[in-house]
Order: sequence, then C-alpha cells, then structure tokens
Amino acid sequence: MSDIITITAPVNIAVIKYWGKRDEELILPLNDSVSATLDTNVMCAKTSVCARPDINENEIWLNKIKESFNNKRLQNCLNEIKRIARVQKSVDEEFLSWNVRIYSENNFPTAAGLASSAAGYACLVTALAILYKIKTDISTLARLGSGSACRSVYGGFVRWHAGVKPDGSDSIASQIANSLHWPDMRVIILVVADTKKHTSSSKGMQCSVATSELLQYRVLHSVPKRVDDICTAIQKRDFAKFAEITMKDSNQFHAVCLDTYPPCVYMRDISHSIVEVIHRYNEICGEVKVAYTFDAGPNACLYLLEKDVPEIISLIKQVFPTSNPEFIKGLSTQESQDRDF
Ligand code: PMV
Repeated sequence: MSDIITITAPVNIAVIKYWGKRDEELILPLNDSVSATLDTNVMCAKTSVCARPDINENEIWLNKIKESFNNKRLQNCLNEIKRIARVQKSVDEEFLSWNVRIYSENNFPTAAGLASSAAGYACLVTALAILYKIKTDISTLARLGSGSACRSVYGGFVRWHAGVKPDGSDSIASQIANSLHWPDMRVIILVVADTKKHTSSSKGMQCSVATSELLQYRVLHSVPKRVDDICTAIQKRDFAKFAEITMKDSNQFHAVCLDTYPPCVYMRDISHSIVEVIHRYNEICGEVKVAYTFDAGPNACLYLLEKDVPEIISLIKQVFPTSNPEFIKGLSTQESQDRDF
C-alpha cells in the first residue's frame, strides 16, 4: 500500500480567455491566454491519492460523492503519468499494477464557472506525479485534464502559450510575474449562482469553433496584441491598462459565446448589472479602479487594488443588498514551480 499524498492547488482567473481548441485530444488552444492565480488558502481544491493492491478498480470521489472513473480526460492523465513512470522506472511494475483511490474537494462551488476544473486537475496531476515519483513538466500533464489547469500550476501571473507544434510540446504555461510582484492586487468574487452551468466549457468551445465567425477574428486580430499589452501592463503594474484589457477581453469572449449557434449564454441579468455598476463607478471616479471578468458562468470576478477594497465592498452591498461578496485576500503566495519533484 502506498502513502497517501495530499495536495492543494489554487484557482486561476483568466484575464485573457482561452476559448477554442486546435486539437481536442491533446487539449491545444487556438490562442494564448493569461491569468492570475489566487491565494491557495482561500479558494482551492484539495486532493488525496493513494495506490493499493486491495482496490478492485480505480476510484474517484468528488466533494464526497463517488463519480465514475470512466472519464477520458481523467484516464488520459493517469495513463500518461504511469507511462512516464515506466519510462523513468521511478516505481516498480507491481506498484504500477495497483489501482488508485482519489478524493478531491473544492472549498467553492464546483462547475459554476469558477475555474473548479483548473484547480482540480492541477491538484490531481501534482498529487499523482508525487505518488509515482516522476520528474516532468506538471503544466503539460494538467493541460491533459483541463486546458486552464496548466495555468494553476504556477503562482502569480501566468501565460499559457498556445504553441504551434502538432504534438503540443510547445503548448505550455509559464510565469509572467510571481505572486509578490503586485502585492496590492486583490480579487473579489461575486457568486451570482452556484449551480452547475448548462453548457460545459468543452461543449461551448466546440460549438464556437464550429459556428462563430467572431471567434476567428478574435484569435487572429484581438488576442495577440491584448496578450502583449497585458503582459506589459503587469510588468509595469499599470492597473488602468490591465483593467481595461481585462474587461474588453471578457466582453469579447461573451460576445463570441453569443455569436455561437445555438448561442451559449453564461451571463445573467445580474451579471450585466454588475458590468453596468462597475463602468458607472469607474466613470464617477474619473479613473479605472475596478475591472470585472466572467468565465463560462454568471459569477463575477473583480480585480482591484487593496486601497479600493472597502469602498467597492460597500458599493456592492449598497447596490446588491442581498449579496454576500466573498473577499479573496490576494494572489497566490505559492511558488508551485519551485516544488521539488
Ligand atoms: O479549462 P476549461 O476547459 O475549463 O476552459 C476554461 C475556459 C474559461 O474559463 C472560460 C477561460 C479560461 O481561460 O479560463
């Protein structure tokens, strides 16, 4: 019986969205994306894994419920890790023949457009890589589970390079700036609904690739410049520029979703009200103090600087009196890439 390996991994929130794959099997994206990794202590997935000779089949428990292991992406991750372990001879064949038991829990709503799969797969592959004692690029393994998961492997600000190679060997995540680079950057998550989304991001992406003309325009003409500009804004800690690009990219991503046929509608009336309130607030302030971004769900993620947090919290409470904004302290302080495998 193996030791139980337990790992936590943080959520990341994209400011330049990944939407659309050039290879469904290898999970290779059409465009580069950029995200910030949140503090592991506040919003994270926690996963424990072990391998045992007395388990009849591989098992996975998500948020205390036993799920089917008959999930291609899950199997791809495990198979790839075992393949590498065989090549590296990091464990013996008997160990490789044992089944695994996986327990995973999120401390936030699952599949509600809050990047749960990113944290979940980053956690899972890190734990399995330790279990099987392999040395490899963890972001590549995480990508096989869920594209955005490759960005959760690093702290701070992270870029996922789409790459051009058919085998995906250049489709990797790298850190733009570490978590200490912008110490007063804060994130507030507004949970509009914590129910499961109707259209999964995988399904939505497939439909957008097949039907949206705007997606083609976005990939070719919008994203490349935005990625360059936001990386510069991050380096210079230029909040106004960072915020403007973040909001424009969120809006374009949801425009692509609406341009998809049949349309993918992720934002709700209250999401649109949040957008309106933020623009009105920035206008009254005479400067851009807060940015919103929405993933494939109705929940808002606000980026702002620490000095503006109290005012924004009170604004939200005033405009949405029944809301309960969950204040996320800051970006990740975990330098995951420094972990020694
Ligand atoms: O990694 P997936 O398949 O959950 O897709 C994530 C897509 C978005 O969250 C909408 C954007 C992103 O870059 O995280």
